[in-house]
Amino acid sequence: MPTYILLMGGPGAGKGTQAEALVQRYGLPQVASGDLFRDNLKRETELGQLAKGFMDRGELVPDDIVVAVVEERFANPREVESGFVLDGFPRTETQAEALFKILGPNRLDLVIDLEVPRDVVVERLLARNREDDNEESINRRLELYESETKPLVDFYRERGLLATVDGYGDEQEVHRRMLAAIGERLDPSPVERS
Ligand code: AP5
Repeated sequence: MPTYILLMGGPGAGKGTQAEALVQRYGLPQVASGDLFRDNLKRETELGQLAKGFMDRGELVPDDIVVAVVEERFANPREVESGFVLDGFPRTETQAEALFKILGPNRLDLVIDLEVPRDVVVERLLARNREDDNEESINRRLELYESETKPLVDFYRERGLLATVDGYGDEQEVHRRMLAAIGERLDPSPVERS
């Protein structure tokens, strides 16, 4: 049975890192909205150009652009049927509604919210040196996470889908906590890659 896992958490919480580890373990496809934008930018598409200014400033890309990019990723129904580890989307209520439409009702199995203290994520991001990892953009991303995205954590909690995982610690330790949360919440657990 396909598994649908959504990773939430502020900038630098480790969503991408942990998504990759889950992908390695379970062989699920990874879908990350930030990566979809960076890929569009690399290919110099119109959508990539539209998103760039917002990304550089740490602003949220407008919902219509984000939803268009994600819908394009799932244009082939088989891409939905195979399950996924999704990170960075949704970040607003409008996006959450769009995801429900893309997936159909009751498809999400688990939403994991990675919690990491603010000073730790700032340190991680400044050490990474990605183009949008400067103090101004990081502060704006953190601000927008609190105001726009954090309310979705309650939205998923109310639907019984949320597990909170402590994302502070080394990558393997956090990965073990993620597996424990998955084991506790998903029955059956996703099948491991042989
Ligand atoms: P996106 O790429 O999603 O950026 P982000 O949310 O700011 O997330 P990051 O990639 O910075 O952090 P992460 O949680 O994935 O952590 P990671 O594993 O990389 O989005 C970029 C921009 O695109 C947004 O600002 C916005 O403009 C736009 N955008 C994207 N999606 C959107 C949407 N849905 N709506 C609107 N706009 C959207 O780790 C970070 C660093 O920490 C790495 O160097 C990693 O090696 C390190 N690290 C990870 N885990 C650990 C650990 N346990 N210990 C020590 N170091 C660690």
